Amino acid sequence: MEDARSRPLPLHCHDIAPRVFPFFHNIIKDYGKISFTWLGPIPRVSLMEPKLMREILSKKFDQFTKPKSLTPLGKFIFQGLVGHEGEKWAKHRKIINPAFALENLKIMLPAFCISCAELIRKWDMMIPDEGYLELDVLPDIQNLTQDVISRTAFGSSYEEGRRIFQLLIEKLQLILPTSQSAYIPGFRLIRFLPTPFNKKISQVEKEMDRILKGIIEKRQKAMRMGESSKNDLLGVLLESNMKDGEESQGKSKNSGMTTEDVVEECKLFYLAGQETTSVLLTWTMILLGMYPNWQAKAREEILQVFGKNKPDMDGLSRLKIVTMILYEVLRLYPPASSLVREVRKTTEVGGIAYPAGVTFLLPILFIHHDTEFWGEDAKEFKPERFAEGISKASKVAGAFFPFGGGPRICIGQNFTLIEAKIGLSMILQHFSFELSASYIHAPCFDFTIQPQHGAQLRLGKL
Ligand code: HEM
Repeated sequence: MEDARSRPLPLHCHDIAPRVFPFFHNIIKDYGKISFTWLGPIPRVSLMEPKLMREILSKKFDQFTKPKSLTPLGKFIFQGLVGHEGEKWAKHRKIINPAFALENLKIMLPAFCISCAELIRKWDMMIPDEGYLELDVLPDIQNLTQDVISRTAFGSSYEEGRRIFQLLIEKLQLILPTSQSAYIPGFRLIRFLPTPFNKKISQVEKEMDRILKGIIEKRQKAMRMGESSKNDLLGVLLESNMKDGEESQGKSKNSGMTTEDVVEECKLFYLAGQETTSVLLTWTMILLGMYPNWQAKAREEILQVFGKNKPDMDGLSRLKIVTMILYEVLRLYPPASSLVREVRKTTEVGGIAYPAGVTFLLPILFIHHDTEFWGEDAKEFKPERFAEGISKASKVAGAFFPFGGGPRICIGQNFTLIEAKIGLSMILQHFSFELSASYIHAPCFDFTIQPQHGAQLRLGKL
């Protein structure tokens, strides 16, 4: 991996798998599309077959779950909905679903636009009227997606939302170095010892929970007084939770989510939604910098639909070229590059019976780049392949998995696509850009697929 990371790729080369995952690339090359490795004591089968992958993703909870043997990083990330199983998952998913429904995201549109307008204002002040600005856009895009999630999740409590985000980053930075080390069974017991590291983590967690509980209790009180709070994710979530509690009163002791549950779900919105969306937008800008013809096509469409006005929901649904571009970026540079599942009881997949304890690696990136599923031009940037929708884009049906599949498919996919379309529309309405001479094409894995040396672009005003 170190060797792969030390060598950048030529510009326009999207054959990124050997650089991003050299180990798995070699395994698949040497042993085929269904092969296995040992992860310490755990057998891991990589399965590069869209049909079987869909089968696994749609299997019942008693057959497949998320893996139990998680590293500290995994445990941190797999909290809330993304880590629950069985009935608890079903209950949480039902309560949270309305928060991400299109009609509610529509109400949050002004919040998306305010955050994007701030970015536009910032770049507008930095870029000279005549001439260009060389800029690594990655930090600004990260800031944009943090701002969007703080505004859409917490609305009026936006400032506290930003603080929670800083604390999450602090915790992630504490945990990340420990996740780089090899997994040793029993090692995680160390997290119960009062070491300085554990004390620091616990301090950060306490502050985060205190702020979140404060926001939630204030909101619950306002709702009891009859105030509507439907204009942010937390408000819709609390209303849906209250409704669930009322509907199942007397029928089940286990109704609604507790405040602690809501706290975990709010943290997850940040973790699952921020980095993924920021890399999607960043790679989109890099690729539109590489392919000025697609940048021009996207701008033409955006100006046709919105002129210089703020994007609206109706217009967003009419952006065909922009959608094709975003899908092609999600195909070539999928932010979630693989999924993992663990077999709970002996289960047959593709004619082989796998015993309990086996884990499956479902390599989204490798499937998205395979010529067998996408044709000889699989590793080229060709948004036109999505011109007739997702189902017609691949040679083999159902080979596009950027948001997973089955019942656990990403709950935030509409949220992300709305955010990316608004962000891109507003950027292209105001600026043109190309790759800077200092840009180095070096995609690498850092939880998501990141540009290792940043996203240096040369921006000019329109
Ligand atoms: C480009 C952006 C995004 C990508 C590529 C992405 C990808 C994914 C994938 C692949 C899964 C399935 C994981 C699995 O089956 O193991 C997932 C689940 C999930 N995502 Fe996203 N996601 C994105 C944005 C978001 C956003 C914006 C949010 C929320 C604000 C979000 C919240 C979630 C949640 C809560 C789950 C768990 C769903 C469940 O287990 O029922 N995601 N996402």
